Amino acid sequence: MRSLIDICDFSVDQIATIVDLACEIADNPVKFSAVATGKTLATLFYEPSTRTRLSFESAMYGLGGHVLGFADGDTSSSSKGESMADTARVVSCYADIIAMRHPREGAAAVAAEHATVPVINAGDGGHCHPTQTLTDLVTIFREWGRLDHLRIGICGDLKYGRTVHSLIAAMSRYEGVSFVLISPEELKLPGYVKKDVLEANDIPYTQTANLEEVLPDLDILYMTRIQRERFDDPETYERLKDSYVLDAAKMALAAPGMRVLHPLPRVGEISPEIDGDARACYFRQVQNGKYARMALIMTLLGLAGASKGSAPEGEQPVREIHPELSCGNARCITAVEPALEPAFLRGKNGVLRCAYCETKVD
Ligand code: NCD
Repeated sequence: MRSLIDICDFSVDQIATIVDLACEIADNPVKFSAVATGKTLATLFYEPSTRTRLSFESAMYGLGGHVLGFADGDTSSSSKGESMADTARVVSCYADIIAMRHPREGAAAVAAEHATVPVINAGDGGHCHPTQTLTDLVTIFREWGRLDHLRIGICGDLKYGRTVHSLIAAMSRYEGVSFVLISPEELKLPGYVKKDVLEANDIPYTQTANLEEVLPDLDILYMTRIQRERFDDPETYERLKDSYVLDAAKMALAAPGMRVLHPLPRVGEISPEIDGDARACYFRQVQNGKYARMALIMTLLGLAGASKGSAPEGEQPVREIHPELSCGNARCITAVEPALEPAFLRGKNGVLRCAYCETKVD
């Protein structure tokens, strides 16, 4: 059994196999319409979602499987105080695979530890969102024909945008990739992504607040929504919400081959006037999300090639239990479930991080 919590749970080779499979499915979906007959996917969504949940459901139906689940945490037993671990054990009795979204960082990692079927992280708070990243990789590959040697601009909420954190982790593993990080000062990329992902791997990056200035040099512009629900202070959100609006005038500055991606939903950062521009590929990206999830479900159910692939490359962190320590991240699942094992991961640089949400322990 294998779960997908973080995009780097897969090696680059496994990702290539999944992306290839997604492209094959896109070319001939009918061929795959019965490969998961008799299998059931549970979708446990404790946080609002349209695309991701429906995309999972549509993917499972597209493979001939069944779907059960909930779209509102208030209607589940967690509202009665059931632990994540128990919910995972219980749902494992009903389903062959689980996709879950939770507002708490590290929640999917906890579920994966206790479930007896594969768990897919469909977003855990501001932490990560690996299936959006698979969607992004399939889209970049279908648009550009490659995943390496690309200059990627990421614009908007780089602090709370979980899709951004996962995309950077994934793309940093390809040769010749560089990043331009475009955000207001308050929404810059978290230090752990900068240090442990970009700097640790010598990935070239620059930071700016000015989109127009960098637009002409980009191969990809990944726009993101300012994540209102993650702000502690509504005034800061109000001040920052309209920081960037991509419109026709700005698109005129971009190269003819540039591509605009967005995980959606958009709330004003992309003007609908550019929807017809061939470089705007966010709706094609939604379609690719279904194929990416079909390929992922097949892989985790052992119905496809990458199921048997190698472990991720590089040295893996060592798990340590420290009953005297606690994670300092107020958004971590451990903050609401104190009975969880106080587990930490020690990286090769000696730094200790929460095993669930990856926050550094001081
Ligand atoms: C993203 C998410 O939920 O993190 N949406 C998605 O999954 N397609 C981005 C967002 O909510 O802004």
